[in-house]
Amino acid sequence: MSNGSNDADPAVAGLYGNRFLTEHAPSKEFPTIGMPSLDAMRLVGEELTLDGDPMRNLATFVTTWMEPEAQRIIAENLHRNFIDHAEYPRTAEIEQRCIRMLADLYHAPGETTGARCQGSSEAIMLGALSLKWKWKERREAAGKPVDRPNLIFGGDVHVVWEKFCRYFDVEPRIVPLQEHKYTIGPEDVEPHLDENTIGVAAVLGTTFTGHMDDIRGINDLLVEVEDKKGLHVPLHIDAASGGFVWPFLYPHSEWDFRLETVRSINVSGHKFGLVYPGIGWLIFREKSDLSEDLVFYENYLGKTDATFTLNFSTGSAMVLAQYYNLVRLGRQGYTFVMEAMQKNTSALADQLSATGDFELIGQDEERLPLVAFKLAEKRSYDEFDIAWQLSAERGWMVPAYTLPPNAQDVTIMRALVKQTLSLELVDTLAGDIAQACRTLDEKGRAHPSERKQVKQGFGY
Ligand SMILES: Cc1ncc(COP(=O)(O)O)c(C=O)c1O
Repeated sequence: MSNGSNDADPAVAGLYGNRFLTEHAPSKEFPTIGMPSLDAMRLVGEELTLDGDPMRNLATFVTTWMEPEAQRIIAENLHRNFIDHAEYPRTAEIEQRCIRMLADLYHAPGETTGARCQGSSEAIMLGALSLKWKWKERREAAGKPVDRPNLIFGGDVHVVWEKFCRYFDVEPRIVPLQEHKYTIGPEDVEPHLDENTIGVAAVLGTTFTGHMDDIRGINDLLVEVEDKKGLHVPLHIDAASGGFVWPFLYPHSEWDFRLETVRSINVSGHKFGLVYPGIGWLIFREKSDLSEDLVFYENYLGKTDATFTLNFSTGSAMVLAQYYNLVRLGRQGYTFVMEAMQKNTSALADQLSATGDFELIGQDEERLPLVAFKLAEKRSYDEFDIAWQLSAERGWMVPAYTLPPNAQDVTIMRALVKQTLSLELVDTLAGDIAQACRTLDEKGRAHPSERKQVKQGFGY
């Protein structure tokens, strides 16, 4: 007979559950025996309480809330492998609808093509590969060498661009940033252009400050270079975040296929497309912008399928959720949501500015719904101390980071204002940031052991 203690026999433990409460979680060895489903669920759930709360994660660009109806679609379709086009032809059709709708949003001149990806990183790898292959085709047709391709982009890009260059053997020609100049323009690109340039990548909504490169200026330069020097250099737009913001907040700003040298665009559905991770899109201007050599035709489970992806099996749920958002919101709905974020962004910016503690970075320019700010003057503490104090006092995750070279001496903080940051929460956040500064005024700065724990990444 058991005495009812926690090391009771398994039948008693099974009756009252929670064996994991008094044991360490399996972590190194493959477990010999399992546990009841309820225990497994609670074990995972309880550990996750130690993570940050996604609702207070103002570092991430990625969606942290979707409507219950969208969640239902996701939950009901987790068992559907996206790659099984023969078995799930409507899912494949829904992917194509999303591609066509995005091509329409980006003013593609006619019939086009694209790909559903895991996120913008995969979309960029595929888009840049196509730039490389198309360049190779042009060079080989002209009987010229193909051994020294280069790609031009600014220091304001996401790390994935350098990753592409290293993985796929392309020389990166990176335009460094400068203090007070955090995006690039035609004057920066021009000196790097030559016959081995496979393309230029420009950003719509940088990860660092949310601004756009001078895309029109770069387009005009590339048009001129083709006219005068016969150099054909395509432009790819990394619209990971901006691709679902600019069309709704700044519809008259031209950055997409309205500009003739823009041949491909990537966008993350899981950022301002308002879908949970991971979903991204690659959209070509015309079918011919995708190199035919990169498309694989294969007979899979009885049907010939054309694939242009880096991975094979993946979920369908987020494709369906993206389609849900496109038809649920339409242009009017996306505009409403983006304008709401924009309003709350301005409210946060005004409140931070009114404290006198901070200087805002480029708040009046076209930008993503975020506030980038830095201390207005030198203090005994810096932005990293504030990030620490704010998270310690109130749990907000607002990152502090230094900008890329040659602006590495500039430290900024950045708060994303997403759909879930209501005006009420904006007021609270602004008050909490001010309070963190007052604590630091008294304390001097964060203790070195606290500073070690500051998250220095800029969010994704
Ligand atoms: C400008 C830019 N490009 C690419 C990426 C990578 O996107 P993903 O996380 O969708 O792979 C990000 C992510 O933050 C980004 O901001």
